[in-house]
Amino acid sequence: MGKEWTLAMLKPDAVERNLIGAIISRLESEGFRVVAIKMTRLTKESAEAFYSVHRGKPFFESLVRYITSGPVVAIVLEREDAVTHLRSVMGATDPAKADRNTIRFQYGLSIEKNTIHGSDSPENARREIAFFFTEQELAELTSK
Ligand code: RTP
Ligand code: MG
Repeated sequence: MGKEWTLAMLKPDAVERNLIGAIISRLESEGFRVVAIKMTRLTKESAEAFYSVHRGKPFFESLVRYITSGPVVAIVLEREDAVTHLRSVMGATDPAKADRNTIRFQYGLSIEKNTIHGSDSPENARREIAFFFTEQELAELTSK
């Protein structure tokens, strides 16, 4: 199987607690290569668009408030089977139900403040990478 890209986002609780380095170290030790990285603050409108599949759910408004409460770090990661592997390294949505040795078990605070986002399919990875990075930025970072 060839190399694949996925999108990780370190959430405001990770940035707030100075966990950026520790989490990127963990990801690199799992065989991911950092292709592109950007720290940014989502607006209400961009957060609603990023999480649009959850519009209407009971947790949606709280999620948007939380994810806009501070900066996030968006990271394009490359690895074999990147989408699936990132989801398994992240662990379950609720840190209390996540396997030991997952990022969410180790660092997650609650089902909402769960430290890291990862794309859940190759299609969503493409959509989410394009949400944070322009074609030109990606071309500049990957040109030989
Ligand atoms: P993510 O999209 O952030 O990688 O997380 P996920 O796939 O594991 O979970 P998902 O169902 O897509 O939910 C997106 C984010 O919404 C917050 N959430 N809060 N209060 C709640 O019951 C609840 N459920 C989900 C979490 O921040 C979750 O990661
Ligand atoms: Mg999700």
